[in-house]
Amino acid sequence: MDSSTEHSSSKGPELSLAEAVERRRNFAIISHPDAGKTTLTEKLLLYGGAIQQAGAVKARGQQRKVTSDWMELEKQRGISITSTVLQFDYLTNTINLLDTPGHQDFSEDTYRTLAAADNAVMLEDAAKGLEPQTKKLFEVCRMRSIPIFTFINKMDRPGQEPLSLLDEIESELGLTTWAVNWPIGSGELFRGVIDRRTKEVIVFERAERGKQSTELKLKLDDPNLNDLVEKDLLEKALEEIELLDAVAANMDIELIHAGELTPVFFGSAMTNFGVRPFLDSFLKMAQPPIARMASDGVVDPLKPDFTGFVFKLQANMDPRHRDRVAFVRVCSGRFQKDMTVNHARTGKSIRLSRPQKIFGQDRLVVDDAYPGDVIGLNNPGMFAIGDTLYTGKKVEYEGIPCFSPEIFSWLRNPNPSAFKNFRKGVNELREEGAVQILYDTDQSKRDPILAAVGQLQLEVVQHRLEHEYGVVTRLEPLGFQLARWVNGGWPSLENIGRLFNCKIVKDPWSRPVLLFKNEWNLNQLIEDHPSMQLSSVAPVVSGVEPISL
Ligand code: G4P
Repeated sequence: MDSSTEHSSSKGPELSLAEAVERRRNFAIISHPDAGKTTLTEKLLLYGGAIQQAGAVKARGQQRKVTSDWMELEKQRGISITSTVLQFDYLTNTINLLDTPGHQDFSEDTYRTLAAADNAVMLEDAAKGLEPQTKKLFEVCRMRSIPIFTFINKMDRPGQEPLSLLDEIESELGLTTWAVNWPIGSGELFRGVIDRRTKEVIVFERAERGKQSTELKLKLDDPNLNDLVEKDLLEKALEEIELLDAVAANMDIELIHAGELTPVFFGSAMTNFGVRPFLDSFLKMAQPPIARMASDGVVDPLKPDFTGFVFKLQANMDPRHRDRVAFVRVCSGRFQKDMTVNHARTGKSIRLSRPQKIFGQDRLVVDDAYPGDVIGLNNPGMFAIGDTLYTGKKVEYEGIPCFSPEIFSWLRNPNPSAFKNFRKGVNELREEGAVQILYDTDQSKRDPILAAVGQLQLEVVQHRLEHEYGVVTRLEPLGFQLARWVNGGWPSLENIGRLFNCKIVKDPWSRPVLLFKNEWNLNQLIEDHPSMQLSSVAPVVSGVEPISL
């Protein structure tokens, strides 16, 4: 398909709402760069028939024509900013894979995408174990207690002891683990896995690159096993399983759904080993689209009225249209093309005539969508992150919180005559959620402070200010790395008195935010003022307009 093409989706057989919800599984992959997210995604798409050959996901990225200034930036940096939702059918399921931008430099969008996910796959490199980005993303999943499925990747390479990988998850994340399969050897001596439930050995055969592996299954007492797996490796694996059976928790689907127990799978995405068994088990254990909390209580996905919320906005996906797209997670009811919906924040009604599904660069005009699906809507500046759309009785979902930024920089406008455009750009980009804005408490320092999760967010903001608003700006980094909101706001801060080694600023809702240079300064302050309650995530404010520049 050409890039940026639009198609009309062919209508399949009409499903009842209950059937559509039952067959849907929605998840995001959380991982550190290089753990193999692209490779795993590709293999999953391959099984789902959504792509025909391995390499297509990357090739698509590399072949991509310059489709916007923003993508030009993406191209220069050789990374993927554009997160999309990949939908594909596999067996009797419809799977929505929410693609999280994974580069180390990026971004609050990654966190927001997790707000739309019902399940997460935590992907680890067997040699590296838990890595920083994974831990941060895990914390966001934990806020909503979503089920976590762990895939320990790159078993074809030398890795850490499997038992210590499980220990690390238990001790660092406080998650109980339940290994679904157990590896026999590792690296050059990786011979396969034992399925703990069936006690079958799945033998690892290095498949030709890009091809699906054969997945030979043998019973433990099969005499052929001796020719394929060294005796000592098999014995070691069986002893370890015995140990797990003796000490580990039982696999309990309720604990999985509560986000307290993670099923663990070992495999190798690149060589295609263990991906299909993982997908099969995942689909059995993952939760279908779940009920969501709204202002008036929980909304069940089977509620016939359509409801959904905006979790991500993206500008300039296609420069020929200078378009903006709002991504909406459908939460209840059946969404239909040309539907008129209400916009909870403004009270306006809107007819949604061109809802889209976006697969990489391709657009598909959708006729209908169900809970767990994501649709893209053209956004002429109307939608903001966290907005609710609904039909029937008014519903307003809890918004999406602001996540702790880690990079802070003054944004200077050296040209006073461009102030109007500067102000418009800063306000619009903040509304869009491209970056967080903080303000100095000293009224004479009027320039905004940009606060971001990754450096690239700042570059995107500067780039867009220049190309969309005609304002060339200058960044002046502030040497802080951590932000904490003060529970209880200004009154609690006043009770504490003078604070050292931190800077007090305010967010657009005039709440105090403390900036710290490092963890040490933060811990010092917590030690000095044990009564002070700090939060790394800002609660959602509803019904109050934020301050503009
Ligand atoms: P990411 O999206 O999480 O950043 O990771 P990506 O899939 O791009 O994988 C990072 C590197 O790890 C790639 O190698 C990929 O081939 C390799 N990899 C992924 N899964 C496995 C696995 O199961 N075993 C082994 N041995 N390697 C794996 P690269 O050299 O950076 O790219 P490429 O030349 O292979 O495309």
